[in-house]
Amino acid sequence: MPAQRVVSIGAAARRPCTLVVCRGCCCGDARKHPGYDHAWQLERLRAAAAASAGRFEVRTTDCLGPCDQANVIVVQPSGAGRRAGGRATWIGFAMDDDCTEEILTWAAAGGPGVATPPAALTLQFISPPRPARTRR
Ligand code: FES
Repeated sequence: MPAQRVVSIGAAARRPCTLVVCRGCCCGDARKHPGYDHAWQLERLRAAAAASAGRFEVRTTDCLGPCDQANVIVVQPSGAGRRAGGRATWIGFAMDDDCTEEILTWAAAGGPGVATPPAALTLQFISPPRPARTRR
């Protein structure tokens, strides 16, 4: 079987690495996960993205599904990263300062498909939830 070639066009080709930060029912909730400064985490991520000169961006989302592994952050590849074979990487239990800094280091270096993730961060990679079953 021939290798599949990924072609990105338009805005997708220029899309930067994106950190999708879950802030649903459990992620970022100080009552469910006390002892962490969730607001600081989001501010830190946003400030770093603003200072990255467009290398990566941050957006928030409602519940992504695996609440038992909160906080969840998905690192989406840039257009270049996707063309190089990078895929969305799900990170669980992303609450402490070290994890936040490692995510930022990876995103600033290019993210999935472009840069190798910090070794400690790979221990927090989680599987994305399976797609919902659909009735036929
Ligand atoms: S609230 Fe983040 S996975 Fe559910």
